[in-house]
Amino acid sequence: MKAIVYRDNGGPDVLRLVDRDLPVPGPGEVRVRVTVSGVNPTDWQARSGAGHPKHFPEVTPHLDGAGTIDAVGEGVEQSRAGQRVWLFMAAAGRPTGTAAEFTVVPAEQAVPLPDEAGFDVGAALGVPALTAHRALTVAEDGPRRLRPGALDGKVVLAAGGAGAVGHAVIQLARWAGATVISTVSSPEKARLATAAGAHHVVNYREGDPAAGIRRIVPDGVDIVAEVALGANIALDLAVLRPRGTIATYANDGGKPVELNVLQNMVLNTRLQFLVLYTAGPEARTAAAQDVAAAVRDGALPVGEEHGLPLTRFPLGRTADAHRAVESGTVGKVVVDIAS
Ligand SMILES: NC(=O)c1ccc[n+]([C@@H]2O[C@H](COP(=O)([O-])OP(=O)(O)OC[C@H]3O[C@@H](n4cnc5c(N)ncnc54)[C@H](OP(=O)(O)O)[C@@H]3O)[C@@H](O)[C@H]2O)c1
Repeated sequence: MKAIVYRDNGGPDVLRLVDRDLPVPGPGEVRVRVTVSGVNPTDWQARSGAGHPKHFPEVTPHLDGAGTIDAVGEGVEQSRAGQRVWLFMAAAGRPTGTAAEFTVVPAEQAVPLPDEAGFDVGAALGVPALTAHRALTVAEDGPRRLRPGALDGKVVLAAGGAGAVGHAVIQLARWAGATVISTVSSPEKARLATAAGAHHVVNYREGDPAAGIRRIVPDGVDIVAEVALGANIALDLAVLRPRGTIATYANDGGKPVELNVLQNMVLNTRLQFLVLYTAGPEARTAAAQDVAAAVRDGALPVGEEHGLPLTRFPLGRTADAHRAVESGTVGKVVVDIAS
């Protein structure tokens, strides 16, 4: 089979297209013929080595993807062969990600993809949707699980709603019944966040965004899903309601976080940090189940008309796909494995 591999950490040029033997699924595993591989910032960060120690001599990158199960290991129901699936955490703790014609994952990390959902939807779920789920389920007063109605009466602020995770936050929060506000940096990104389902968008680079958000929700925001904590903590606290939650999954821009302890005490702020790798199996399993339900409801579409433009590369140009993600391409970058 064709696979992308790297042996040394470094820039995109360390990625090579090679031929490798078909992987064999072990007990509890499935082998998936990958159709579309989804690329996330964590994939190029792992390749570059920054903050991600490499545990295997050779690595095929990419956590997310979608395809069809073509072989099952011992203990997995034979009836799963032929099932369309989306994958999450494929390359986490294993050397075999989705940038290959076939990959092997634990059976529970291959989630059935309904016929109505295309492989592009499946490849865009993993990291963004599971992260968004975690951000929306860590508030003191719940909910712990998402379903229609779970966030009724709640206000969610999706920071940077034109980003891949921000997009998933908007879609999942909207599906679960929240009023969704998104910050954006341009009219074009406002259009995307609105297409994703945000009820309100606020350009954080114009005027007084906190006042703008307070005009929309005078009682404040229940949950902030934050992508740039250092840059936005003052804004978040200015709009958070007492006992509200700031769930932060990144500090894009790298601005150091300055905490006003008294302000946070008075607000009874819950400040939740999160990273998918260490969220724990229970949280990831719950997230995968709820995301699967949202997919079945048709709540997580992709494409420009749904706020997530797709940029595609063939497998042989995976290095360019990494360059695209690294340079901040708006929307989702995917790699086509099979036509
Ligand atoms: N913790 C986890 O488990 C986890 C999971 C997934 C991703 N991440 C991390 O999360 C970050 C985003 O990932 P992604 O895939 O969503 O990337 P992406 O598609 O490139 O989106 C990033 C978004 O952040 C926005 N942004 C940057 N600075 C902002 C600010 N000060 N205020 C509001 N929005 C801001 C950008 O919009 P503008 O440029 O228009 O501001 C952009 O829309 C990356 O650092 C990634 O590594 C972490």
